[in-house]
Amino acid sequence: MSGVTYDYMEQYIRGLISPNEGILKELEEYAAANSVPIIQKEVGKFLELMINIKKPGNILELGTAIGYSAILMHLSSNCKCNITTIERDKNMIEIAKDNINKYGFSEKINILEGDCLEVLEKLEGQFDFIFMDAGKGHYNHFLPYCLKLLSKDGIIVADNVLFKGMVASRDLLIRRKITIVKRMKTYLEMISTNDELITSVIPMGDGIAVTTRRLKS
Ligand SMILES: C[S@@+](CC[C@H](N)C(=O)[O-])C[C@H]1O[C@@H](n2cnc3c(N)ncnc32)[C@H](O)[C@@H]1O
Repeated sequence: MSGVTYDYMEQYIRGLISPNEGILKELEEYAAANSVPIIQKEVGKFLELMINIKKPGNILELGTAIGYSAILMHLSSNCKCNITTIERDKNMIEIAKDNINKYGFSEKINILEGDCLEVLEKLEGQFDFIFMDAGKGHYNHFLPYCLKLLSKDGIIVADNVLFKGMVASRDLLIRRKITIVKRMKTYLEMISTNDELITSVIPMGDGIAVTTRRLKS
């Protein structure tokens, strides 16, 4: 049970999505065989949709792992967008670099090595689309930096915001996850109560939150 939506609903929605071929299929198989957490199928489709609507020139991703979602977002843009992706795990960085080079994306996908918070503190530039998928217990700390880096009409998509349902229900809460859950609630409150932002929380996958700046009159 995902704790976020009904299993039958998840299975039905996933069944509507055609299986990936080629690169993405290979990476999905690698991730499954090596227990690497990558975005869920419906979240991948959602990112593809958002990128087709938004057509971002520059994307920032927090959490590269093996490079699956970075490559998926890059392919979704017809290989037009530039992606900057942050990862701290040396082993993941090596694998992601191999994948990015192997498929010829190294000019468009750049990995920044290090802890997200430390990299974000120093990072400059403007990003039209930011995908948060690292350090669930720190989204609230990442947010001020992400807002500074977000272009005027940019979008932030944060994954895992309902965290197996634990964020919404005490009955599902595991004791050792209390801190992460508290901080995730803080993140959701920050993006939901800030008058300058509009946020929609969607019970898809492990829960996603989509945030943009409110239009000024
Ligand atoms: C869920 S995985 C990312 C999956 C990837 N976005 C995909 O779908 O292909 C999260 C990754 O974030 C990395 N990570 C976690 N906390 C981090 C932090 N504070 N700074 C940098 N990387 C972090 C982990 O090492 C892991 O590889």
